[in-house]
Amino acid sequence: MDRLHIKGGAQLNGRIPVSGAKNSALKLMVACLLTDQPITLTNMPNLADTRFLAQLLETLGVEVYWPKGESTCHLNAAELKSTIAPYDQVRKMRASFNVLGPLIARSGHATVSLPGGCAIGARPVDLHLQALEAMGADLRVEQGYVKAAAIHGLKGAHINFAMPSVGATEHAMLTATLAQGVTVLENAAREPEIEDLANCLNSMGARITGAGTSKIRIEGVETLGGTTHAVMPDRIEAGTFAMAAAAAGGDVTLEGAPVAALGAMNAKLREAGVTVEADEEAGTLRIVRNGSRLKSVSVSTQPHPGFPTDLQAQFMALMSLADGTSIIRETIFENRFMHAPELSRLGADITVRGQEAVVKGVPQLTAAPVMATDLRASVSLVIAGLAAEGETVVNRIYHLDRGFERLEEKLNACGASIERRSEDED
Ligand code: UD1
Repeated sequence: MDRLHIKGGAQLNGRIPVSGAKNSALKLMVACLLTDQPITLTNMPNLADTRFLAQLLETLGVEVYWPKGESTCHLNAAELKSTIAPYDQVRKMRASFNVLGPLIARSGHATVSLPGGCAIGARPVDLHLQALEAMGADLRVEQGYVKAAAIHGLKGAHINFAMPSVGATEHAMLTATLAQGVTVLENAAREPEIEDLANCLNSMGARITGAGTSKIRIEGVETLGGTTHAVMPDRIEAGTFAMAAAAAGGDVTLEGAPVAALGAMNAKLREAGVTVEADEEAGTLRIVRNGSRLKSVSVSTQPHPGFPTDLQAQFMALMSLADGTSIIRETIFENRFMHAPELSRLGADITVRGQEAVVKGVPQLTAAPVMATDLRASVSLVIAGLAAEGETVVNRIYHLDRGFERLEEKLNACGASIERRSEDED
């Protein structure tokens, strides 16, 4: 198993290119199931998660041409050879569950394992299932699998989500493109990745309006065609690098950044005393912190356009170095503070009380061996390690590889000292 050895204390200076968004890429890949025509996705991030989904799609019969290291992925679901998504392939990554609706829409039936994913709370799929049922799918849960059929085809429906869910909104939107009649999604999630998916589906011939707002209207069509679509840049990766620069100090410019999607984070960084120069037109975000200590700022995670839960762990790492006390509230997931005890091993002063973490800033963190527990938590340890005194070792970094492309290469190009070693090398 690989681990990262991080020598802390160096400032970060330079430019970092932002990769395509993992969370968008995963749903865009699933869209290929809705057509027998080829789909080409550019700006694809090479990640464990996207490669993993490609394997699941191959199991279903999709021809995937995506040479290692390349950012263009060709998908062709001309003929599906299976409508079964097995446990082993779905449990590792929750987004795989989104094949269910598209398989029903395309083939009339499907059997898909219930998902696993990051260990950050219960994460049920009830909203996904309610939406599919509203569209006329007949669902049974048996032995950990959802067995679904729509004998009379899928029909448009009026769906009012009990809470905004990114996954359920995308799942319902994908499925409704081929349902008969009009589907309206209310209290839909508004994350930018949903807009990216809608743009791609519309370029395939779908009729979707309102994506990016809480009311989405989808007029079903008979068939969808092929397309070429560029995956939007990753706002979570960009936000992570911004916080790494703020924690380590220095002057970093992010290139190809989804600036408009990062408003909530930029506001919090500015409050903390970081200089943030956002140029929406150029797609650049410049982060500067020289000398002065960070100020403590409280934050509460919210659905978009609020502060993203996927940046909460990174922000906690940053606040552990700030002057004063900050309260970090997690409102999206109930068990997303697993990084807190690990950050404490580096000298952070954090007390978790239910959905709140009280972070008393310390002037300096010190290196220690730590353990990655989930995707975003692991990168918060990297951020803390960059600012800590001494050599921090982050274990179990397979979590990191699920969602960050060439992380150490990008940071090292700006002056960080991060080395990947396998256990056998120690
Ligand atoms: C997506 C992102 C993830 C991000 C999250 C919130 C992907 C691949 N992942 O996850 O990185 O942290 O959005 O921005 O895009 N819920 C239910 N029932 C459901 C579905 C969700 O109760 O059927 C709950 C969840 O447990 C959670 C909340 O709704 O408490 C939000 O989850 P959701 O927006 O669905 O997150 P994901 O789509 O899983």
